[in-house]
Amino acid sequence: MAKIFVTRHVPGPGLQMLKDAGHELKINEEDRPLTEEEFNAELSSGEYDGVLSLLTDKIDVKVFDSAPSVKVFSNYAVGFNNIDIGEAKKRGIVISNTPGTSTNAVAEFTIALAMNIAKRVDEGDQFIRDGKYKGWNPNLLIGEEILNKTWGLIGAGRIGGRVAEILHKGFGMKIIYHDIKRNEDLEKDFGAEFKENIEDLIRESDIISLHVLLDETTKHLINKERIEMMKKTAVLVNTSRGPVVDEVAIVSALQNKKIRGFATDVYELEPSLAEGLKELPNVVLTPHIASATEEARNAMSVQAAENLIEFFAGREPKYIVG
Ligand code: GLV
Ligand code: GLV
Repeated sequence: MAKIFVTRHVPGPGLQMLKDAGHELKINEEDRPLTEEEFNAELSSGEYDGVLSLLTDKIDVKVFDSAPSVKVFSNYAVGFNNIDIGEAKKRGIVISNTPGTSTNAVAEFTIALAMNIAKRVDEGDQFIRDGKYKGWNPNLLIGEEILNKTWGLIGAGRIGGRVAEILHKGFGMKIIYHDIKRNEDLEKDFGAEFKENIEDLIRESDIISLHVLLDETTKHLINKERIEMMKKTAVLVNTSRGPVVDEVAIVSALQNKKIRGFATDVYELEPSLAEGLKELPNVVLTPHIASATEEARNAMSVQAAENLIEFFAGREPKYIVG
């Protein structure tokens, strides 16, 4: 039996699974992330063996120092940029995540965001709410169709792959992709074309979506220079991590109509927004909810619990990071 700290109540059956496996849980019952001080104080007083953590918990040297008894952090997320993986490795602490659980949810959401911009859904909604709708107008809110347009995927892992599948089967788009490694299944199954040079992809795409993990190599992957290479009609969609896009540069590009639009679920300094972002009409902003479906959150919960159950049963969890 292990003593596990759960940093915030998560939906799904995972917590019950941990209890059923005989583990003792202490759950942060506040409906907010703990502050760094609260988190460290809880860990240093609790003598925990494991932690079920969220992407809002910063897990760094200080946390590891506060919790020498903790041998495993099970992150309830696909991403793990909130954790100092190098330091964990040095100390022999196991970090696990939940890949695969939100693949379809995030892929569908990415396409919903792009369609929202292409069809100007939010602008139309706002127009009506503002009381401006006075009858059908042939010139009102002209959008675009995505049939036969080019969608550029940056990152062709599980989520990028599922986006490609939906686009190929349902939307008749041309798909191009860039990744650090080639994904031949994507080419064979969904007709995707590999772009070794990310800038070729950026120049050729009508819609660009980001599906990379955040690390030193992907921070500001979309910067001012690369935004300038985009088509004037391009739409950028980000459901990965905020810092992959230079938010100040994108605000300036949108203000100057350098591209058509930007739809994002994630922010550089979440939950803060770059100045000017929410005043722009050609953006769609959502509060980091791409994986917020009943199906995905249940699956994340099960996987995060299973990773801990396996670890404490002396087996290797299915999804170890690092
Ligand atoms: C959500 O952003 C995740 O990484 O699962
Ligand atoms: C998510 O599951 C990914 O690896 O893209």
